Amino acid sequence: MKKVYIKTYGCQMNFYDSEKIKALLIKNGYKIVESPEESDIIAVNTCCVRKHAEDRALSFLSSYKHLKKQGKVFCLLGCIASLYKEDIYKKHNFIDIVCSPDNYNQLHKILQIPGKEKICHTEENKNPFISEGIISDSHISSFVSITKGCENFCSYCVVPFTRGKLISKQPEVIHREIEHLVETGVREVVLLGQNVNEYGKDIGETFTELLKKIHNIKGLVRIGFLTSHPKDIQDSLIILFKDLPKLYRHLHLPLQSGSDRILGQMNRRYTISQYVEIIDKVRKVAPDIAITSDIIVGFPSETEDDFQKTLQTIKDIKFDDLFVFKYSPRPLTSASWIEDDVPEGEKERRHRTILEAQEEISIKRNQGLIGTTDNVFVLKPADKKSGYMLGKSSTNKPVMFRSSHSTPGTFEQVTFSSADRRYLYGCSVSGHKEV
Ligand code: 5AD
Ligand code: SF4
Repeated sequence: MKKVYIKTYGCQMNFYDSEKIKALLIKNGYKIVESPEESDIIAVNTCCVRKHAEDRALSFLSSYKHLKKQGKVFCLLGCIASLYKEDIYKKHNFIDIVCSPDNYNQLHKILQIPGKEKICHTEENKNPFISEGIISDSHISSFVSITKGCENFCSYCVVPFTRGKLISKQPEVIHREIEHLVETGVREVVLLGQNVNEYGKDIGETFTELLKKIHNIKGLVRIGFLTSHPKDIQDSLIILFKDLPKLYRHLHLPLQSGSDRILGQMNRRYTISQYVEIIDKVRKVAPDIAITSDIIVGFPSETEDDFQKTLQTIKDIKFDDLFVFKYSPRPLTSASWIEDDVPEGEKERRHRTILEAQEEISIKRNQGLIGTTDNVFVLKPADKKSGYMLGKSSTNKPVMFRSSHSTPGTFEQVTFSSADRRYLYGCSVSGHKEV
């Protein structure tokens, strides 16, 4: 029985993929081990959306190069495999196998091939999904991917080149996958796609219809989804924040920049005023909804004036949380042809400035909930605080609350007594409400 160690870097999609790969390998007679030393095959699965993730993953793999003498096989998985293909061997000759996300469903066969030949599987695949069900780590919550790929070609983004064309999973397949998870004890799913709003375009389905169907699954009590694109947000989706009680009242809607000029250069296909209009609509339907976003600072040609527009926009919109990235040029993208002309120190300053502004906004928004009571979904005992449980508010915010009797996977009525940037803190009041 071959033993495989898999280290994962990057986004939720990558973590989900690794879990699917593990299920596939286990079903085909492999054993998943917890350390590179005890493995026969050391695999790293990484995204390459920013150079930083790529560098970390390759340096992790390189740090085990000395184990090559023991006959261990080195395997590179993830978007990085599609991006560099065979070229990876030129710089990292110790790597034996390169396999892109489209070819994961063949990985059990690919890993079996013995010998000294380098193996590279990076071709596109019309049926890229792994059918084996995940064995969920937490048994309470699980990711479920609903699409593969993206064809939006935002000018900075490498994903259309690494994950290829948009392919949607059939609704019945998603349904079965979730039912299987629920049978194993999962109570919450987070649906994943590069742009979930485009789900079904290729198979005559829509994301809103999919959500409604999933909402009917008995035993499933919470549903989240990531990521949405402002150009594709449908009114029929917005209304579901009111109509589907299992749906977290949370929308992750990447803004990227507060300057229309930069948004144009990024090929995002919306303006700030259109973005703000969506936020207004969403908040009208669900006034307490949590809205989070992504920002890129230091995109080529971003001036101080463009940056100030972004800063002002985040102060006006008041997101609940924000992920801020420094622009990182990526091979093949159209932005990589434009000079990366914002100096690193300036990117750093803009990054810090946005984070500091957001910190204040996040704290204020969380503290605004003090004194309210919410139906909190219980996840697990909190590692850091004994006597406390970790859960999620109905707006998908992390909650730490004092309780001696809460069961993971159920709900607890919690009154919030304090809050910081990350957590809402509170105490469970007796009794719980079903969704
Ligand atoms: N540089 C910096 N950030 C990027 N992102 C995507 N590509 C890049 C890049 N080249 C960010 C975007 C996206 C998030 C997942 O990663 O903000 O929404
Ligand atoms: Fe990348 Fe844009 Fe597609 Fe998101 S929508 S994955 S940012 S190309």
